[in-house]
Amino acid sequence: MIDALQLTGKPGETGATVGRAGGRQVRVIFLGAGDGTRQALVRAGAALGRLARGHRALAVLASQQPAQVQAFAEGVLLGGYKFKLAGAGAKADRPGRVDLLVPELAGSAESGAGQPVRRAQAVAAAVALARDLTNTPSGIKSPQWLAQQAEQACSGNGVTVRTWTPAELAADGFGGILAVGSGSARGPTLIELSYHPPAGADGHVVLVGKGITFDSGGLSLKPNEGMIAMKTDMAGGGAVIAVLSALAGLGVRKRVTGLIAAAENMPSGSAYRPGDVITQFGGRTVEILNTDAEGRLVLADALSYAAARLQPDQMVDLATLTGAVRVALGTSHAALYATDDELAGALLAAGLASGERLWRMPLADDYRQALDSPVADIAHVSREAMTPGSIVAALFLREFTGGLPWAHLDIAGAGRAASDDGELTKGATGFGVRLLLNWLGAAG
Ligand code: BES
Ligand code: MN
Ligand code: ZN
Repeated sequence: MIDALQLTGKPGETGATVGRAGGRQVRVIFLGAGDGTRQALVRAGAALGRLARGHRALAVLASQQPAQVQAFAEGVLLGGYKFKLAGAGAKADRPGRVDLLVPELAGSAESGAGQPVRRAQAVAAAVALARDLTNTPSGIKSPQWLAQQAEQACSGNGVTVRTWTPAELAADGFGGILAVGSGSARGPTLIELSYHPPAGADGHVVLVGKGITFDSGGLSLKPNEGMIAMKTDMAGGGAVIAVLSALAGLGVRKRVTGLIAAAENMPSGSAYRPGDVITQFGGRTVEILNTDAEGRLVLADALSYAAARLQPDQMVDLATLTGAVRVALGTSHAALYATDDELAGALLAAGLASGERLWRMPLADDYRQALDSPVADIAHVSREAMTPGSIVAALFLREFTGGLPWAHLDIAGAGRAASDDGELTKGATGFGVRLLLNWLGAAG
């Protein structure tokens, strides 16, 4: 049959025929699993996940390593993901159900396939949450809504939640978040999610996410083409919420704090302007040159707060920060900037292991002077022509990290997929969730 179907076995390939089971005609699908590596099994699983949407399937898996079972199950669950607006046409999109049979493991209760499948379910549920938050239209998704979602997803999972009202942001000096949010009728907020492992912490990591619930560009208004996808400008924040929601279930033993700097970037009579000088958390002044470079302003507040008040061992931020990074790296890799080689190495390794790839970029001091300002401590974008946009943004953020080991992931490319591809589904990818859970020692 494999011959007749002209199958080659490449990862994700499918070929269908008809067989009999339990006295009934059933569809039999051959799934290509390539060389059986993690990535190949994820692709194979994803192909099945798509086919099985709205159906019931039994998958017989020849691979028997727990890591292979986990990869396949992850693929099934992520490939089968579909965004559904709450309350909209539920009938046509019934979720599927896939049972896994792993003959090599059947009967061995201890080393059974249950554990890797449960891990895959926990990881995939987190990725689906990040995708759902990011795919939600901005008409629904205000900063306040995002905070409610974070509370709902995290508070039952060993995480305490604190949010700031605009008045509280003002009292504490979060001038970046306030400025970016000032043009919107829906006020900004900072969301702090604190996870303390039950049996004592093995280090403290702060994750910071860009939570721009819609990026119109503000008074430096984007053209319509550039605005259509900007409901996804909180993808970094969505990933941070999703990671925090999954830590307890995966038994992570680090203390982790998530900070989501949430604001809607809109033009209006109360919006911040090019030429304004704002004061970031901690007192540094910033000259505004382009209100569309808003992400770095909200992140600077959060990083500065984390460094001063939380004093973690490491900080990692995720942000759909620059169009420039999409030109440099496309959608296959997110840009990694780091002030610490060990942290960079660990994140690169977690990226390879999880299938969410990073490419390290330089924090080249050569361009730092492009941010010099005549009226403030620093400008947030370059006045000069031909400066590298993603690098300059990273150099700006570095100013607010208090010298702590810090990494920045510019996910403007990798955060969205133009079409279904392997475990990725069109729209939000949930990039960073698998990588960070792997890095935090959770994804096995
Ligand atoms: N959210 C955008 C970056 C972006 C662009 C993400 C395309 C995903 C797809 C960010 O806030 C932005 O507008 N950046 C500007 C910075 C510029 C004004 C210095 C950009 O990249 O054009
Ligand atoms: Mn912008
Ligand atoms: Zn933005």
